[in-house]
Amino acid sequence: MRLDKFLSNLKYGTRKDIEKLIRAGYVEVNGEVVRKKQTTIDPSADVVAIGGEEVLYFPSLTLMMNKREGTVCTHSDTRHPTVFEDLDEVYQRHDLHIAGRLDKDATGLLILSTDGQLIHRITSPRSNLYKTYHVKTKEPVESLDGLEAPPPIEDGKGRRYQPAPAQIVDIEGREATVRIREGKFHQLKRMFASLGHEVVALKRIAIHRLELDETLSPGQVRRLSEDEKDKLIKK
Ligand code: URA
Repeated sequence: MRLDKFLSNLKYGTRKDIEKLIRAGYVEVNGEVVRKKQTTIDPSADVVAIGGEEVLYFPSLTLMMNKREGTVCTHSDTRHPTVFEDLDEVYQRHDLHIAGRLDKDATGLLILSTDGQLIHRITSPRSNLYKTYHVKTKEPVESLDGLEAPPPIEDGKGRRYQPAPAQIVDIEGREATVRIREGKFHQLKRMFASLGHEVVALKRIAIHRLELDETLSPGQVRRLSEDEKDKLIKK
């Protein structure tokens, strides 16, 4: 890959800015100053540095976040902090996308990845993966049997939508653990509301076989191992 493209992919500025940096002798490849923007590098083998500081690059990057309350799952928002703002700079420089958004007030397991295929496999309706949530309701809940044959809800685009049955894992007082396969806008809140229950807190604790690492504090991330990625997509 061309050095200037590599650096612009990592958001070090426009191609013009980067050309200036290179020409001025700030950029080194494997310890040698290079002055040509066309220099080709192998991003997974060569060490690039700017002003003596190594440029960290992950050819493929997948992160698990314990999303905190109050952040939004978009790249930019004028009113609220985004989940991307909770990432260290090195991760922010990568082209990360979210595999299954959470509402602003929801917390828990969020997957961010540069791997489009992985994201597609997690979010595609064809994959039909279960997502597990801890739900707190305003009032105690006796039964959630209605979620197993749920009434239609709004799909977030103004249309009536028939949700697939949820699985009820556990109910205790105002807390329940449930699994759903789909991910329409406000889906669980709407499914609970259709049975007359108001959701006051929502935390995703698993996607398919991958559980949230509870040692992550709110807003913290860590990279996923290959085994953990398999837990997201393999049976
Ligand atoms: N269901 C919701 O209502 N909100 C979420 O963030 C996830 C599932």
